[in-house]
Amino acid sequence: VVGERGKEQSVAQRTSAPQASKRRGRAERRWYDYPHYYELGFRDFTGQEADFIEQVCQRYVPEPVERLLEPGCGSGRLVLEMASRGYEITGLDLNRRQLAYCRQRLKRRGLSAQLLEQDMTEFELPERFGAAFNTINTFRHLLTERAAQKHLETVARHLVPGGVYILGLHVYPPDADLEGSERWRAVRGQTRVSYSLTAMEACRRKRLERLRLSMTVRKPSESFRVTDELVLRLYNATQLQRLIARVPQLRLEGVFDFHYQIDEPQLLDDEINDTVLILKHVPVAGAQM
Ligand SMILES: C[S@@+](CC[C@H](N)C(=O)[O-])C[C@H]1O[C@@H](n2cnc3c(N)ncnc32)[C@H](O)[C@@H]1O
Repeated sequence: VVGERGKEQSVAQRTSAPQASKRRGRAERRWYDYPHYYELGFRDFTGQEADFIEQVCQRYVPEPVERLLEPGCGSGRLVLEMASRGYEITGLDLNRRQLAYCRQRLKRRGLSAQLLEQDMTEFELPERFGAAFNTINTFRHLLTERAAQKHLETVARHLVPGGVYILGLHVYPPDADLEGSERWRAVRGQTRVSYSLTAMEACRRKRLERLRLSMTVRKPSESFRVTDELVLRLYNATQLQRLIARVPQLRLEGVFDFHYQIDEPQLLDDEINDTVLILKHVPVAGAQM
């Protein structure tokens, strides 16, 4: 898998995100307001991600992990998967439709999870978690350094000592081409969905990129297109390392990529693109617990 724009990328590298569209279609159709179709484009990787989360818990967390947290859980593909594997899981998201969809699916499958409409930047829950996870670039929705740091501090505060935060995001090498687009498709029964993601502009100085997303749904009963835009924060390896260094409660314990191979650790350097960090909670004197 090559992680540079304009080249073929894995589906797991694709991202989607918040509500940033300037020009809205007829019915204000936003990408995240269609959780069913959104999820179809990503579901093939759910099992592999869930296996990896379990392997990380076994390898990195001293005590058996029973309780999990997913900030930015979206439609809840991983919430459902982890609940079905017997974990007690809490998911946070700002999008009500995604949460409602997740609730509905949990109910249909006789599973349970705690789902909360909350901002992942800063939240306060009574529980402490053995592990938290945030895959496919959700973290990059936090557009400022302050928000990103707050988020890491908040997650750290919610981990048990020795607990881990599994954080997946694109990290762009300094010479990476930030322009390009990709397309992919998903089919379920008689429903066909075509997805496209185009990098419209990127500013390394402001550390932001603007993406256009489009999803064309074709069913026997109807066809429609949802286009949306989103802005994500850019990171290179050095910027990410600096950010982590500002949160001493989290120590970088492992680096992997979107192949999710627990026996193939990587380095957080200028070569890596699709990155999964294992951040371990280490109690720090004076830090709020
Ligand atoms: C790329 S989706 C990922 C969903 C899910 N984690 C997955 O892997 O399928 C990002 C999600 O983050 C949510 N989100 C964006 N900013 C957020 C914030 N500040 N607090 C909570 N959720 C947020 C969006 O509503 C969206 O559902």
